[in-house]
Amino acid sequence: MKMGILTSGGDCSGLNAVIRAIGLYAERNIKNAELIGIPGGYGGLIRGESEPLRRSDFEDILDRGGTILGTSRQPFKLMAVVENGTSRLRRMCENYKKMGLDCLFTLGGAGTHKTAALLCAEGCNVIGVPKTIDNDIYGTDVTFGFQTAVEVATECIDRVRTTAASHRRVMLVEIMGNKAGWLTLQTGIAAGADVILLPEIPFSPESVAKSAKAALEEKGYCIVAVAEGSVLASEAPFKKKDRAFVRTERGETTVTPHLAEVLGELTGAETRATVLGYLQRGGVPCAYDRALSSRLGGYAAKLAKEGRFGVTVAVSGGNITFNALVDIAGKYKLVDPAGPAVAYARSVGISFGDE
Ligand code: F6P
Repeated sequence: MKMGILTSGGDCSGLNAVIRAIGLYAERNIKNAELIGIPGGYGGLIRGESEPLRRSDFEDILDRGGTILGTSRQPFKLMAVVENGTSRLRRMCENYKKMGLDCLFTLGGAGTHKTAALLCAEGCNVIGVPKTIDNDIYGTDVTFGFQTAVEVATECIDRVRTTAASHRRVMLVEIMGNKAGWLTLQTGIAAGADVILLPEIPFSPESVAKSAKAALEEKGYCIVAVAEGSVLASEAPFKKKDRAFVRTERGETTVTPHLAEVLGELTGAETRATVLGYLQRGGVPCAYDRALSSRLGGYAAKLAKEGRFGVTVAVSGGNITFNALVDIAGKYKLVDPAGPAVAYARSVGISFGDE
């Protein structure tokens, strides 16, 4: 059985552990297993690039961040567009056949899964594995890479807190997550943030300022965890591209700099912002992600052995299972503003800037 693996979209911790687990499982359990890596995500498949994956390539990568295969972003909306007489989708299908693949593992996020579903519809045997620090893939309780990002972001807020207390400042910490606020919510709770701002709950600066003033009075400082995709209640009715236009005019990409300025004015306290950015995606995967990635990779290889294609592996109620790609592609798992995690946070006085 000839199996291809690619890693696509933004990288995260645990990708290499998945590759390793697929390799180890295949070696022991699949007859005539041959593994090839496709470098640079779907870009490599479009160009028809591949390289053999041998035991020595993957046996020692369990604790390595990033992806040994490299990755890229290939916009889903361009996949079926015809350029020079053919589309990227068509080229990928042709190269799948040219490479003689019996199946393809696609390790990626929501966008990767949409393209994987397209490849399936064109007759390729695809098995997805859900990665992303955003934890927003529909149909799985958790994605690998998320927990490591939570650990990193939590440690960063712990560090920010001591300097916030020393200077009696309002500190904004911007955390990744454009559509979904899982990473900010989990980190904010773990790090004891006073305010948590999420894309799913539009906020008003006046409400955040009220909570910040209360925190300043009670303990002398305030921590605001801001998801990068957070939106002001006043801009929520507008389309994303219109919001982006206004921000670009101001030379900003997220709401954080604007909020820092306004909070400084409204509270009278010194206000600073820290953007965690790619620190959350890089580095050594935590033990939870290594174990999760390994189990998801082993399970994906087992599905290949059983000939179950057109699926993506998932965690449901603590068990590893799978979903049909057609059922989950194009959907997102977002934070429920009325759900238990937000309810807990509100019950202990954490503000979401909407009160
Ligand atoms: O992979 C998810 C993610 O880290 C998001 O949280 C973030 O919005 C985005 O990727 C950043 O993408 P890029 O790597 O293209 O800058």
